[in-house]
Amino acid sequence: MTQRTLIAPSILAADFANLAADVARADNADWLHIDVMDGHFVPNLSFGLPVAKSLLPHTDKHLDVHLMIEDPQRWAPDYAADFDSVTFHLEAVEDIDAAVELAQELRAKGTKAGVSIKPKTAVEPLLDHLASFDQILVMSVEPGFGGQKFMPEVLSKVEALRSRIDADGLDTLIEIDGGIGVETAEQSAAAGVDVYVAGSSVYGANDPAAAVDAIRQAADGATGATAR
Ligand code: DX5
Ligand code: ZN
Repeated sequence: MTQRTLIAPSILAADFANLAADVARADNADWLHIDVMDGHFVPNLSFGLPVAKSLLPHTDKHLDVHLMIEDPQRWAPDYAADFDSVTFHLEAVEDIDAAVELAQELRAKGTKAGVSIKPKTAVEPLLDHLASFDQILVMSVEPGFGGQKFMPEVLSKVEALRSRIDADGLDTLIEIDGGIGVETAEQSAAAGVDVYVAGSSVYGANDPAAAVDAIRQAADGATGATAR
């Protein structure tokens, strides 16, 4: 499939006391990104299933859950019924076979299955298994906190994914997460990204919708794409 441009504001940077209102402030976004942190896999704690589910009546957007948790085999399936995509970390399971098995279970429960890799995790082990995943989330900061600086060295992993996805004719999406704004979205688009997660650059802006548009424009400008 050809490269796409999907903007996914991360509610980690939103006002937790006014989540529904903040979701509405970025109504022109394509997806909504929901960061679940357990204080173990990452040194930060955000929220879990009940808070994530509280958003359901307030939006009909694609809800993209990013699980930064230990033992995803235990917890990820609980998200499958209500959320459009569920991504767990490769580093949190034993090996690639366990990741493929969990992705199968998530798909069987009716959600899209994603796997994420931290900045220092190699992409190669995933390359022969891309058809087993609907999306690959490449972390461009160490997971755990919003507002960190983009790590351009992860773009070589995006390029490797793009080449293999295109060569094999797959529709697996490439998602990037961490430090995304106008400039880094442009670099990411050139490397082959489809889904742009943006927290502080959207919810830290006076006008979140304008920030979403600016990221979309930067990405589309770099790829010549207009597909959504
Ligand atoms: C970080 C989270 C991100 C975070 C991104 O661990 O996975 O989704 O919200 O925040 P920014 O866009 O501020 O880097
Ligand atoms: Zn995230």
